Amino acid sequence: MANNKIIIFDTTLRDGEQSPGMSMNLEEKLLVAEALDAMGVDVIEAGFAQASNGDFESVHEIAKRIKNSVVCSLARAKTVDIERAAEALKPARQSRIHTFISTSDIHLKYQFKLSKEEVLVIIADTVKLARKYTDNVEWSAMDATRSDKEYLCRAVETAIKAGATTVNIPDTVGYATPQDYGQLIKHLVDNVPNIDKAVISTHCQNDLGLATANSLMAIQNGARQIECTINGIGERAGNTALEEVVMAIKTRQDLFKFDCNIDTTHITRISRLVQSITGAMVQVNKAIVGANAFAHESGIHQDGMLKNASTYEIMTPESVGLTKSSLVLGKHSGRHAFRDRLKDLGIDIGDNALEDAFSRFKDLADKKKEIYDEDILTLLDTESRREDLIQLESLHITCGTVGPQTAMLALRVDGEVRRVTIEGNGPVDATFNGLHALVPHNAKLLLYQVSAITQGTDAQAEVTVRLETPEGQIINGVGSSIDTVVASAQAYITALCKMQRLQTRVSVLPQPPK
Ligand code: KIV
Repeated sequence: MANNKIIIFDTTLRDGEQSPGMSMNLEEKLLVAEALDAMGVDVIEAGFAQASNGDFESVHEIAKRIKNSVVCSLARAKTVDIERAAEALKPARQSRIHTFISTSDIHLKYQFKLSKEEVLVIIADTVKLARKYTDNVEWSAMDATRSDKEYLCRAVETAIKAGATTVNIPDTVGYATPQDYGQLIKHLVDNVPNIDKAVISTHCQNDLGLATANSLMAIQNGARQIECTINGIGERAGNTALEEVVMAIKTRQDLFKFDCNIDTTHITRISRLVQSITGAMVQVNKAIVGANAFAHESGIHQDGMLKNASTYEIMTPESVGLTKSSLVLGKHSGRHAFRDRLKDLGIDIGDNALEDAFSRFKDLADKKKEIYDEDILTLLDTESRREDLIQLESLHITCGTVGPQTAMLALRVDGEVRRVTIEGNGPVDATFNGLHALVPHNAKLLLYQVSAITQGTDAQAEVTVRLETPEGQIINGVGSSIDTVVASAQAYITALCKMQRLQTRVSVLPQPPK
């Protein structure tokens, strides 16, 4: 491998998914995994196979489907975890087992209750075991940035000697600053005798908002793999955002003389996909993927932009997959124009999916004059996640200044049509009461969030509903429509469908420790 190549290791489906409110079902994980593969991610951490039967199934299915990326499963430093990871990864064209244990005094004393010498033995044994199943083994020193440096060097040396091909130096609690993280990586490069036999990796949590800066400093000091997630989702304040590190490398080639495989024109679409699946909408001023990231409002900036975009733009919207065209299509646009627009957006779907998407596009165009790229992307995301068990047949609302607000709701539940007319404190409350009456359940509504996909009063609303089951499972549903109440009903229905599926899966283990 050329020494200036940065390996992009995406952990949206593991570190991202294990954070509160971000759980995804199998179909959603497959969609994300395929999108990561298509954008050129080198390694996809598909899950933690031993964590639950659902996690095992996801890693296994992703391993079957993915064509180019290496598929990876996390495993604690335990025989059972490593064997389960190996089993889940069997169908993969290229697989990696990622095993980890802590190296900091704090973790060893309070959490693991192990001595440093005992941990070295465990590292050697577990890495050797993982090597029996694959030549591609990553070992992580959890809480590396709060570990004693000399001990960390010994642990890394032990892992490499046992066969680790990647050694990951996580800033598990987001404690490091760019300067000390860079120095730590350099210390390992200078002091671990066999360091040239493995790739050094970064994994930076964002507790102090320094994850991207820390990852970039690490590659300046010898790391060649960055672990990251789409939109920076992850434990607590999140992980390093893939879009940020990749665009920093591409934009500042004068400083970062590195290369990576990512096709950056996929960034906007995958960011939207992850937002609509998890319901975790990025803030408008989020770097690269926020709604305002390429918007120029101030007069002076607009004047400069009109004269020459380079005056205020350090990267083009097109480079991250945002198109300049404001008006895209309307109700007179035909199949051909629709297909061309998808092609411009970098979307390649089969004939049947195209027909379905086109018919939904026509429905939308009947209601909305101008169809923007964002509408098309949302339409495709919703299309590919259509749930079948519960479907919205019809919804009629009576609302306004004079109450009561009433919903007349009809659902098709497993083939049978159920109807109710019910009141509520406003149209959304009435609709949700109706859903409760027709599909009785014990889940609690944790979040109800509405945003507009594009501008104008006929913009589609995107609604996120987050439910919590009595067992503590968190489930997100997203719905979109030009009618906010219909979008709300759809979001709730999607969450109910997911909940029904989740309840057919049995969890065998609690979530992994971080
Ligand atoms: O934050 C962390 O230390 C981790 C490791 C398991 C890589 O997620």
